[in-house]
Amino acid sequence: MADKVPSIRLNSGYDMPMLGLGSYNNFKPNEVGDAVKAAIQMGYRHIDTAWRYKTEPEIGATVKELIQEGKIKRKELFIVTKLWVHIHEPDQVEPHCRQSLEALGMDYIDLYLIHFPMAFEDEEFTKPTMTDYLDTWRAMEKLVDKGIVRSIGVSNFNKQQLERILKMDGLKYKPANNQVEMSPYLAQEDLLQFSLKNGISTTGFAPFGAPGQDYIPKDAPKTLEDPTIVQIGRKYNKSSAQVILRWGIQRGFALVPKSTNPSRLAQNMDVFDFKLSEEDTKAIVALDRGYRSNAHLFNTWKDHPFYPFVK
Ligand code: A2P
Repeated sequence: MADKVPSIRLNSGYDMPMLGLGSYNNFKPNEVGDAVKAAIQMGYRHIDTAWRYKTEPEIGATVKELIQEGKIKRKELFIVTKLWVHIHEPDQVEPHCRQSLEALGMDYIDLYLIHFPMAFEDEEFTKPTMTDYLDTWRAMEKLVDKGIVRSIGVSNFNKQQLERILKMDGLKYKPANNQVEMSPYLAQEDLLQFSLKNGISTTGFAPFGAPGQDYIPKDAPKTLEDPTIVQIGRKYNKSSAQVILRWGIQRGFALVPKSTNPSRLAQNMDVFDFKLSEEDTKAIVALDRGYRSNAHLFNTWKDHPFYPFVK
C-alpha cells in the first residue's frame, strides 16, 4: 500500500510521503508503539514525533524491532521530530538533536523542525525569552552539514516569520517544511499559497481538530460531524475523516492524522482511490472559520514579538 501514497519533493531534494502518522497524545505504555507497528505494516512510512511528545523512545524501539525482523528498512521511513521551545539558544541545538537521535536509536532524522517560533526558559513554556529564531535557524543549518539531519523546517510559523527566514542574511538552507494546524475550520489558504510559491512544503497537523486531546474544550466545533463534510462523504461513500484527508492532499499538503485504532489507521490510509470535485473542495474551504484548536494554550503570549497566531 505504501506505493499508493504520493510524496512531496522537498527543496532539500528528499521525498516526504503525503500521509503520515501523528503521535501526540497522553498515551498509555505501548499504545504509540502498537499504533506505529500497525501503521507501518499497513503502509505508513512517514512518522511524526517531537521531543515534547515524549514518544521518541517508544517509536524508536518499535522501528528497531521491525527493522530487525526484516519488515522495514530505515531508508524506507521518513521520520520527523522537533526541537522544543526551551532549546532555542544556538549552542543547545545540536545536543538536543543528538538526544532525539539517541531516543529514536537512529543515526539521522529525515526532517527536523523548530517546534514553535517563540523561545522559553522552561519546557512548560511559562517564561518566554527573546531568543531570535533566526539564530536558532543558523544552528539548524549546521545539523544538515553534519549529516545528522537531512532536511530542516519549522512548525507553527506564520507567513511573516517564514518570510523573515527567507530574507535573512547568509541563509544557507530554506525551510523545507512548515508544520501547522490545517483543518476545514482552519484552511490557512494564504499561508499555504505563500509556502507553495516559495518552495516550502506544508504538513497539516490535527486535521480533525484534535478531538482526542485533553486540552480541547467540550464545546469545541466538531469537524468530523460537520454536515457539509458528512454529506460530501455520502456522495463518495467515504467517512468524514477520509474526505478531510483527501481535501488536504488535493490542496497540496501532507497530513499527519493521529490514531491508535487499527481500523481507523487503515481508513485514514484509504484515501487514494477517489477524487473530490472542485466544487466539493471549494465547499470545504468555505467552512473556514479560523478555528485553531490549540490557540488558547498560548494566549498569554499574544504580545510577544514572535507570537505566531496572527494574520
Ligand atoms: P482514535 O485514536 O481512537 O482513532 P487529529 O489528528 O485531528 O488530532 O485527530 C485525532 C483524533 O481523531 C484521535 O482521537 C483519533 O481517535 C480520532 N480519529 C483518527 N482517525 C479517525 C477516523 N478515521 N474517524 C474518526 N476519528 C478518528
